[in-house]
Amino acid sequence: MGLIAIIGGTGVCDAAMLDTVRERQMDTFYGKIHYIQGTYKGKDVIFLPRHGKLHSIPPHLINYRANILGLKRLGVTAILSTTAVGSLNREFKPNEFVLPDQFIDFTKNRHTSFFDGGANGVVHVDMTEPYCYSLRSAVITASQILSGYTVHSGGVYVCTEGPRFETPAEIKMYEKLGGDLVGMTNVPEVCLAREAEMCYATVSMVTNFAAGISPAALTHSEVVECMEQNSQRLRELLMKTVEIYDSDMDCECRHALREYGGFMV
Ligand code: HPA
Repeated sequence: MGLIAIIGGTGVCDAAMLDTVRERQMDTFYGKIHYIQGTYKGKDVIFLPRHGKLHSIPPHLINYRANILGLKRLGVTAILSTTAVGSLNREFKPNEFVLPDQFIDFTKNRHTSFFDGGANGVVHVDMTEPYCYSLRSAVITASQILSGYTVHSGGVYVCTEGPRFETPAEIKMYEKLGGDLVGMTNVPEVCLAREAEMCYATVSMVTNFAAGISPAALTHSEVVECMEQNSQRLRELLMKTVEIYDSDMDCECRHALREYGGFMV
């Protein structure tokens, strides 16, 4: 049986939306992960707070490889994550949700692959469709069932190294390159999930217009405040998606390393 996991970002650090919760930890080749094993309406769900349960791990220091490998080892076949983002696109306003379908990587100092040569070999994974179409569709369907949600389907997520916010000049450049959203955590998470042959989608919550578009200077507390204000709605959207999504269904994402004989780290 395939499991679904939720990776909670800023504002979604606890598993309060699950019916039962058990705190667990696991050692992986890349380090220890802390996660929650829980259930929702009788379905097993794994919850992993990306920044730690006290939001103490900054975006550039998250152990993305341990997180994704740990979830793979637990039998997770699909990951639904949340990401707080700034918007570069006037159509995507604060308090609205976006389901990115592409990303542009501006990170600098992260381990972006399980395949660093040596025993694990060299793999060049296809990234034509980085975010799972079926999982994104399930989120759209969930939002329609719940009603009252603005969920934009598709958008380009620009991932920066952080932890600082961007300069207005950087934002202008990202806009020219086709970016819609800017955040600090989706890469390499989405890339590693693909290498590990798991379905992956992220629900981006727009917390602010990006630097230079917003008339005022940005603060982390405005991001956290916006996430907290919308956290209940976001959680309801996640859980409705979990309820309707069939994590046993086969999907092309689960065969991303077919030409290499599958994921075998
Ligand atoms: N920039 C980068 N990351 C973010 C932002 C932003 O404006 N808002 C929320 N996360």
